[in-house]
Amino acid sequence: MLAAFVERLGGPEEIRFGALPEPRPGASEVLVEVLATTVNHVDTFIRSGLVPAPVTFPFVLGRDLVGRVAEAGAGAPGIAPGDLVWCNSLGHGGRQGAAAERVVVPADRLYPLPPDTDPVDAVAVVHPAATAYLALVTHGRVRAGETVVVAGAAGNVGSALVELAVEAGAKVIATASGADLDYCLGLGAAEAYDYHDPRLPGCLRGAADLYVDTSGTNDLGAAVGTLAFRGRIVLLAGATSRPVLPAGELYTQDRSILGFAISNATAAELADAAVALNRRFASGGLRPRIVELGRLAELAEAHRRLERGELRGRRFVLLTDAAGKT
Ligand SMILES: NC(=O)c1ccc[n+]([C@@H]2O[C@H](COP(=O)([O-])OP(=O)(O)OC[C@H]3O[C@@H](n4cnc5c(N)ncnc54)[C@H](OP(=O)(O)O)[C@@H]3O)[C@@H](O)[C@H]2O)c1
Repeated sequence: MLAAFVERLGGPEEIRFGALPEPRPGASEVLVEVLATTVNHVDTFIRSGLVPAPVTFPFVLGRDLVGRVAEAGAGAPGIAPGDLVWCNSLGHGGRQGAAAERVVVPADRLYPLPPDTDPVDAVAVVHPAATAYLALVTHGRVRAGETVVVAGAAGNVGSALVELAVEAGAKVIATASGADLDYCLGLGAAEAYDYHDPRLPGCLRGAADLYVDTSGTNDLGAAVGTLAFRGRIVLLAGATSRPVLPAGELYTQDRSILGFAISNATAAELADAAVALNRRFASGGLRPRIVELGRLAELAEAHRRLERGELRGRRFVLLTDAAGKT
């Protein structure tokens, strides 16, 4: 079978596309014929070694897939050949990645694709939307009636944050580029502001029960001031930022900052997120804004473009030959 893989960690030039032996599922695993996969920032971190992960070479890259069950082990109840499924936790934690024609997925990391959900749309959003769910619910503990400020609300993670926070009954205040404000309002944000406006931190002072910045700017001076009493910042981007923290403003108001990475989520936490995502898929929600289509063989180019910042606000989906047969 064909796969995109590396034989050592390094730059995108290390990515090979070629034949690898077909994987075999164990008792509680499922063999999936991949229809579509995608590329995420974290895939580049794993490939380069920036995020240390246990890897066995040749190492297949890629976290997400939508595919069709080819074979299910005896310990994978409720999963049958032919089922359309998705996964968003391959390619790390000792698991081989999704950028292959066929992959083995632990049964507890595989979720049904709801009927009438487009596989390309789904694979484009399962990573950013699960990230948004974990930020809001698992770590941010959002409650109905709270106010959530989403910075970078027009992006992949940001747009899912807006949609899921609205579904949770929160009031959403979005910040984005001026041209994207109507898009954010269309997702259900109650208010949307241009992040280039220098008056913004003053306007939002004390507003947020929960503040999430997907841009990675991490201006904690402004962000802490945006928090209400006992407000929480969920920090999920900006791996190399070195923000200055206004400590007094934080602790004297019982405010807090929580960091998280989806790579650390347990299978149970990811399964909770999958239930929420599937509910949105089934009702026509969580659609990607801009998708570019490519072929599995183009993974190295997709990594290059992501690292050059050419895929901001869009998703690159790589199709296998099997996608043409559905
Ligand atoms: N912790 C985790 O588990 C996890 C998981 C997934 C992703 N991430 C991280 O999340 C980040 C976002 O990913 P993404 O795919 O959503 O990126 P994206 O689609 O490029 O979205 C980022 C958005 O931020 C906006 N932005 C830039 N500067 C801003 C500012 N100062 N204030 C408000 N908005 C601003 C951008 O708008 P303009 O383009 O108009 O400037 C863009 O819409 C990445 O750094 C990624 O590594 C983390």
